[in-house]
Amino acid sequence: MRSHLCGLVDESLIGQTVTLCGWADVARNLGGVCFIDLRDHEGIVQVVAEPSDAAGNAEVLAVAEQVGYEDCLRVTGTVRRRHSVNAKIRTGQVEVVAERIEVLNKADPLPFHHHENPGEDIRLRYRYLDLRSPDMQRKMRTRTKLVAALRRWLDARGFQDIETPILTKATPEGARDFLVPARMHPGEFYALPQSPQLFKQILMMAGFDRYYQIARCFRDEALRADRQLEFTQLDMEFAWVSERDVQDTVEAMMREVFREVAGVELADPFPRMTYAEAMRRYGSDKPDLRIALELVDVAELVKDCGFAVFAGPASEAGGRVAALRIPGGASLSRKQIDEYAAHAAKFGAKGLAWAKIGEGGEVSSPIQKFFDAAAFSALLAHVGAGNGDIVFFGAGRYSTVSEFMGAVRLKAGRDFGLVEEGWRPLWITDFPMFEWDEEAQRYVALHHPFTAPAVDDEADLRANAATAVSRGYDMVLNGNEIGGGSIRIHRASMQSAVFELLGIGREEAELKFGFLLEALRYGAPPHGGIAFGIDRIAALMAGTDSIRDVIAFPKTTSAQCLMTGAPSPIPDEQLAEVHVQVRPQG
Ligand code: AMO
Ligand code: AMP
Repeated sequence: MRSHLCGLVDESLIGQTVTLCGWADVARNLGGVCFIDLRDHEGIVQVVAEPSDAAGNAEVLAVAEQVGYEDCLRVTGTVRRRHSVNAKIRTGQVEVVAERIEVLNKADPLPFHHHENPGEDIRLRYRYLDLRSPDMQRKMRTRTKLVAALRRWLDARGFQDIETPILTKATPEGARDFLVPARMHPGEFYALPQSPQLFKQILMMAGFDRYYQIARCFRDEALRADRQLEFTQLDMEFAWVSERDVQDTVEAMMREVFREVAGVELADPFPRMTYAEAMRRYGSDKPDLRIALELVDVAELVKDCGFAVFAGPASEAGGRVAALRIPGGASLSRKQIDEYAAHAAKFGAKGLAWAKIGEGGEVSSPIQKFFDAAAFSALLAHVGAGNGDIVFFGAGRYSTVSEFMGAVRLKAGRDFGLVEEGWRPLWITDFPMFEWDEEAQRYVALHHPFTAPAVDDEADLRANAATAVSRGYDMVLNGNEIGGGSIRIHRASMQSAVFELLGIGREEAELKFGFLLEALRYGAPPHGGIAFGIDRIAALMAGTDSIRDVIAFPKTTSAQCLMTGAPSPIPDEQLAEVHVQVRPQG
């Protein structure tokens, strides 16, 4: 149908006849001459329809005058140099003088046009229109390039691409499962995989040595900008490895792929930080190192003060009192400080104390009254606060304070323009093996139940479960967890011990993971791996905050597809076939 692509028409074609297909991005009728920006996936070129001349163009102009937004056109014409050059587009030196314009399909008046900066709901409702925009085309192209580069890298190194089942048994990754009723087994269900975790481990036991898969994962969890119900992992597993083998390999892969796809040079090697250090300095297990601000522990300086909210946690095990100095923060108004407190509250803060030091050195603070003057000065000096700064304070449980002060740090970094340019990857290591779940009154795995503990001995693990460290690791980039993995348990006895510690009884373990325990008994090699969030990496490379921008058909944060209307009710007959009855709500 076409001889060239719109976005690729350039000076080398001047004087030639071309046939182009595309959408009318904009059509301007200047009375007697029409300009149409013709757009395809490569870009835009200007088409001109001029008044009748020796070539008999009257008909072309008449057609052009009727062209509307997003009409599908086929245009034949001659390329010539443009009078007014448009430096913003690749084809800006030239235009196509139309000799024939065919309207292949007239578009109805549009619900929106991509030039208008429409809201996300309407974009998702008419996703095909949204995806046509040059910006979305670019973002989706970035994703394609990322996946292609990863595959090339892995294929060249002998990684074997193996598909694992979608209809399967639950693999716990800490989220709820999506269930699929089994028509042929009344009352029984398949689960959609939260990840291919157990299958990839079994592939190592099956002798595949190096595995990867671009795998769709399904997790029924609360959605956010960086979370979808279904998302894509680059899933990898290695036999006969230690953590450094895995980390060094995938780090090299990331460096090469970022260079190739995004022209970005990542550090060599990536810095490494323990989980404990990350929480202490940044209040996060995925610290954004582009922000230099750090939390400072001040328990020693406040444990004897008159403010019980501080003195309590300062002297209790499991408590924390941390300060964050924001240079130039004294400019914050009371209202703005309240906004910080409200932000911290979203992350569990009961309050957010502060101290401002004015440009003249005068201090104002709601907690000053609980200290004698020298002690308060010492406190401020300890955090390095100077004129013009504000210091925020958080007190309470260690994990809660870390989390909300970490959130305050990120907000301050953004608000005060303290996010440096660049790409700051790092490894987080030495995660705790278990976390105590207050509600359920039992341990839960911080990573997943198949992650090996640092200790090799079950008795040792049982005796020190609360402080046990795992062989898990996360790759973090600019404050995003882009990948997580671990060395796995490869002995059945250790796996059973971990199940027990997680409160999974012998019977339940047999029922849910009997096949794994069995496979571990028949010569399972030491193995480990990692999975990367493709959507998150693509979003970072494409320069967008939301993974929805690099997923063709994402769900909204209320878990719906606005285009198809999924999820939707199912007729009773169809439910009956799969032996399912819907319980009335409420
Ligand atoms: P994990 O649960 O850490 O590990 O997932 C690996 C990576 O997948 C991405 N990710 C997500 N992306 C979008 N939406 C989500 N809901 C979502 N959840 C996770 C993150 C994360 O780092 N089986 C293990 C891996 C292993 O141990 O090898 C696993 O799935 O970028
Ligand atoms: P109050 O005397 O209750 O007004 O508290 C004094 C200051 O301490 C206020 O600015 C509160 O926001 C703050 N505050 C209260 N609880 C905490 C906490 N857990 N951590 C940090 N600051 C707190």
